[in-house]
Amino acid sequence: MSKLFSPITVGGVTIKNRVWVSPMCQYSAVEGVIQDWHAVHYGAFITGGAGLVMVEASAVRPQGRISAGDVGIWTDQQAQVLAEIPRFAHRHGVKAGIQIAHAGRKASAHQPWNGGASMKPSEGAWETEAPSAVPYEGFAIPREMTIQDIEQLKVDFIAAAERALGAEFDVVEIHAAHGYLLHEFLSPISNKRTDEYGGSFENRIRLLCEVSSAVRLVVPSSKALFVRISATDWVEGGWDLEQSISLVRELHARGVDLIDVSSGGLDAGQQIVLGPAYQAEFAKRIHQETGVATNAVGLITTGPQAEALLASGDIEAVMIGRPMLGNPRWAYQAAADLGEEVPWADQYQRGFLERR
Ligand SMILES: Cc1cc2nc3c(=O)[nH]c(=O)nc-3n(C[C@H](O)[C@H](O)[C@H](O)COP(=O)(O)O)c2cc1C
Repeated sequence: MSKLFSPITVGGVTIKNRVWVSPMCQYSAVEGVIQDWHAVHYGAFITGGAGLVMVEASAVRPQGRISAGDVGIWTDQQAQVLAEIPRFAHRHGVKAGIQIAHAGRKASAHQPWNGGASMKPSEGAWETEAPSAVPYEGFAIPREMTIQDIEQLKVDFIAAAERALGAEFDVVEIHAAHGYLLHEFLSPISNKRTDEYGGSFENRIRLLCEVSSAVRLVVPSSKALFVRISATDWVEGGWDLEQSISLVRELHARGVDLIDVSSGGLDAGQQIVLGPAYQAEFAKRIHQETGVATNAVGLITTGPQAEALLASGDIEAVMIGRPMLGNPRWAYQAAADLGEEVPWADQYQRGFLERR
């Protein structure tokens, strides 16, 4: 049996394999509520053999949406409709997670297929909020958050996690990567605050630590709490791997079960060194230095490649993004490439038995 298709328990959640679907915004919600598109999109992954399907970045409050089409989890009604995803997943032996997020200074943008640029007031822009009034290149200048805003943000993350649990999600993932709000607090490039949330390393990680502790209090031990981080900004003088390692020790002490290791997204000047599984080395190093479970993500395209990454013992699972969009039944192909007899969904059994 390959490692990729062996089960794993993270926190209190046992997942049937280590092929996990990475969170991917669809920018297709209406007032934060998922639509038919989402049912088809997530349904394909659920019927396609992945062990865990992570629902896209879901805003904890309206200002935290990247675009007006982002999924939201700031109302009970949004959560009630989202509950269809775990309900369907559980019927098929699949676990469901949801990424809870705030886009910070990169909010209020057009959908990618409409250019992805920061919206103008005449186009329906809203005021963005961030640790400091420092814009992302080409984006509107955000408003510096007050201490009261920060307190409210924690309340919003807690409420979002509670709604996710009410919707029967198995995993809650806090989005602290890709240059969005919680990452903006971590990085000295975007965080210029002079109060207890800026300056020193301890101050810059304070908000993410507080949010993680608060969310952990509502996520029971029968579920799992993940945090997605950008291991580096890929910018000299920015957030880097050494700081990530120190941060992960703190998050572990606060009860985070797994770190989902990505990178970049904070600064337009980033110098990313791209290549196959280019972020997996960060996931390995973080696990080696801290002992905390990690998953790798980014340019992992085949089953044998994923299996080789897991063989090191330093990575527990892989998240697959774009390859899943190309083939939502990527897991079936990965199994075949590893010579595994992983059965397809019941409805597809004849296809599995009679496949050519
Ligand atoms: C359409 C699209 C939407 C994405 N949305 C999110 C998101 O909501 N949250 C997130 O953390 N990453 C998001 N990402 C990044 C992916 O989760 C993933 O980390 C990245 O694509 C690298 O993995 P891959 O090479 O397997 O695609 C998105 C990527 C794509 C292509």
